Amino acid sequence: MSTALSTWLPWTDRAGRLSGLKLAFIIGLIAPAVWMFLEWRLDWLSARPLTDLIRESGDWALRILVASLAVTPLHFIARWNRLILVRRATGLAALFYTLLHIALWCVDENYVWATIFWEMMLRMFLTVGLVSTLILVALGVTSNDWGIRTLGSKGWNRLHAFTYAATALGVLHYFMESRLDVTEAVLLAGLFALAMAFRAVRKYLTPQFLPLACAAAICGFLTAGIEAFYYSISTRVSISRVLSANLDFSYSIRPAWWVFAAGIAVAALAAVRAHFAPATARKRSSF
Ligand code: HEM
Repeated sequence: MSTALSTWLPWTDRAGRLSGLKLAFIIGLIAPAVWMFLEWRLDWLSARPLTDLIRESGDWALRILVASLAVTPLHFIARWNRLILVRRATGLAALFYTLLHIALWCVDENYVWATIFWEMMLRMFLTVGLVSTLILVALGVTSNDWGIRTLGSKGWNRLHAFTYAATALGVLHYFMESRLDVTEAVLLAGLFALAMAFRAVRKYLTPQFLPLACAAAICGFLTAGIEAFYYSISTRVSISRVLSANLDFSYSIRPAWWVFAAGIAVAALAAVRAHFAPATARKRSSF
């Protein structure tokens, strides 16, 4: 196979060699779609299979989008250079699941385009989802060498900073759509905050255990605050009651703890890597 062709293949690195890491990520990113297909073909879904699939594809779109934001900070903090190879595939997978999510919704609406248009214009949670999608499409179309050449690296970076807005709008869409249980929406909001906080730590401080652990603690509190705020306005339960539920482990472990645990795990990884990495690898580089 020619080198020019092999560098285009999604599972090869820039030199055109097979990358085990990329291949593993691609299989992982395709797995939810395969699972949804099986659920549909084997009749494992509820009486409203389309609704189930719209929800599952939406969940995966947002999970993968948040994961894509974690790639850059993790790549620096863990000093794992090859991780950057999977950033584009992760972003494109988030776009794929978003488009699948919308396509399934259009099927559910029986392709009545006028209804689809007016629903997206008039139902606020759909309008928010639409804006997020338009941003993701613009990012997907330009996430290649042609995009960088056309926009120049400054313009490209400026445009791609809109990933944060697309993610924030995706999270907002999830909250607006949720009725009673917002556990996963809160968790994704917290992990999004954590990814942003780690980017900030990396940019302005040395990414060592203490600043990262402080960022993890702040994001844990923030997550608890988001959950308490949501329930206080949607169910009028007092903020202090929702906050104190975080200290009751008999029923479930609240998202704030998972966010804190994820942050501490990354901070510990940074400490281990700092201990073992050679001095030359400790230089800071820009995002
Ligand atoms: C035009 C754009 C969009 C449309 C029309 C749309 C449509 C919908 C609809 C109808 C639901 C409710 C399903 C139900 O419970 O019956 C939903 C939920 C959801 N959407 Fe979207 N969506 C759009 C964009 C997005 C984007 C960009 C994301 C994330 C990247 C996203 C993630 C989600 C999530 C996480 C849920 C909740 C799923 C659950 O309840 O488990 N959506 N969306």
